[in-house]
Amino acid sequence: MLNVCVLISGSGSNLKALLDAAADPAYPARIVAVGSDTEAPGLAHATAAGVPTFIVRPQDYDDREEWGQVLAAAIQEHGVGTGPDSGLVVSAGLMRILPAGFVHEFSPRLINTHPALLPLHPGAHAVRDALAAGATETGVTVHVIDEGVDTGPVLRQARVEIRPGEGENELHERIKQVERPLLVDTVRAIATGELQLSD
Ligand code: GAR
Repeated sequence: MLNVCVLISGSGSNLKALLDAAADPAYPARIVAVGSDTEAPGLAHATAAGVPTFIVRPQDYDDREEWGQVLAAAIQEHGVGTGPDSGLVVSAGLMRILPAGFVHEFSPRLINTHPALLPLHPGAHAVRDALAAGATETGVTVHVIDEGVDTGPVLRQARVEIRPGEGENELHERIKQVERPLLVDTVRAIATGELQLSD
């Protein structure tokens, strides 16, 4: 059984999909904790599922590295990342760049889901950037986090066609419909060993 800690900043619909999948005893991973950098609405999904939550706010620390150390300690307190093959950290809408020390601690057992076909449209406004670029398709990428911004090895991708005249929110919602099952399946594949992680 793979122990997973999920990190979020927002509504947590990807988190909810993971929690729902993990409620099935046949799913080979379980969500042992959910962390955030803020009072994210999505934390309520974890609480409803009886999963412990924690918040570590960057503004409470002198620098990003110190924030990363406290975040790492909170994750490790829940038994994730304290030894080789000892779990997985999933960034599912965490809208922060993780500091280098944190990445070294957990990568490659540290993955992110991103609403674009990387290497296209990295960063915090991927859906808006795809529309601004006049793209006719975009999608979702699940990848290992390395020290760069959305640059780590790609694990899985799925395409989404962009409809003429489509707005950012509508498109992002359609991307998320594809993203949720892709993330659930990627975590399943990591848990079974079907997908090997390397940085
Ligand atoms: C997801 O689409 C995720 O890919 C994106 O935030 C959304 C969170 O949705 N992440 C990024 O843009 C990170 N650069 P959710 O809170 O409903 O799961």
